[in-house]
Amino acid sequence: MSGHVFSAVQQSALDPAGPQAERIGDVWWLMFWVCAVVMALVTLALLGGLLHARRRRESEAPQPIAPESHRRMTWVVSGALATTAVILLVLLAASVSTGRALGSLTSPDALVIEVIGRQWWWEVRYMDDQPSNILTDANEIHIPVGRPVLIRGTSRDVIHSLWVPNLHGKKDLIPGYVTDTWIQADRPGVFRGQCAEFCGLQHAHMAFLVVAEPPAKFQAWRAAASQPARPPRTPLELRGQQVFLNRQCALCHTVLGTDAGGRIGPDLTHVASRRTLGAGTLPNTRGHLAGWIVDPQSVKPGNRMPQNPMPSEDLLALLAYLESLQ
Ligand code: CUA
Repeated sequence: MSGHVFSAVQQSALDPAGPQAERIGDVWWLMFWVCAVVMALVTLALLGGLLHARRRRESEAPQPIAPESHRRMTWVVSGALATTAVILLVLLAASVSTGRALGSLTSPDALVIEVIGRQWWWEVRYMDDQPSNILTDANEIHIPVGRPVLIRGTSRDVIHSLWVPNLHGKKDLIPGYVTDTWIQADRPGVFRGQCAEFCGLQHAHMAFLVVAEPPAKFQAWRAAASQPARPPRTPLELRGQQVFLNRQCALCHTVLGTDAGGRIGPDLTHVASRRTLGAGTLPNTRGHLAGWIVDPQSVKPGNRMPQNPMPSEDLLALLAYLESLQ
């Protein structure tokens, strides 16, 4: 994936940005170094054995193994077996204790975000005690730096798996069931996440971004994102809004503040402020948006959005309107 939109995006389990990923990273490095040392020792022993056998084959005829040499070999093999068992136990203990530690990283004053996996995008809802204050967004999860976040994950169709390598391990999202995942970002950044469970034709195009921002910036974003859509300001935008409402767009998409209330596709109230289109598939630019609207099936075959051939004046107006939805 090229383009400046994605250049600052991070995605690496070995570059943890929070306490959960940090612990998973620690276990990863422990396993890496233990396995590296074992691999090196086994390779050395194998090479030593090969050289020894070759030297003996060249110098003398085969001889029976001497009793003391046989005893030594028994000790070496038993020692290697015991070491293997101990190493496996240590790795098991490290893995179990990491799992327990991850389960204990909870907090009473967490931000609660509902993430719903759908074929093939992510519905994101910022929960609030007042149902009218719940903010619905898609394919981008904004979180404040330094504050624990409880992700309540579920699915509307098949099993998906939520994975943001810089913040946590994988967590399955299962239809009819809620799985809790705690994350926390300790530094600002844009972290790429993706679906990690095969969920159909476009599984590979089911990505999202986690945008970790300082708390004040997050609050400002949330306040702006909770506003209804900006009304059209120019004749072109107004015409674009009519195209949106009169064509089939409004049947599947919501734009708060208009009659468009479809719930099949992502909420588009602030689509222009998102970084990507098609769940992390394309950068959100005018050209990609036009291509996506007219022919989403060639970008992401099998997704729910139909082809939308339309006169170019309608398309230009529609683009102007959608790009005004900051
Ligand atoms: Cu959703 Cu794979």
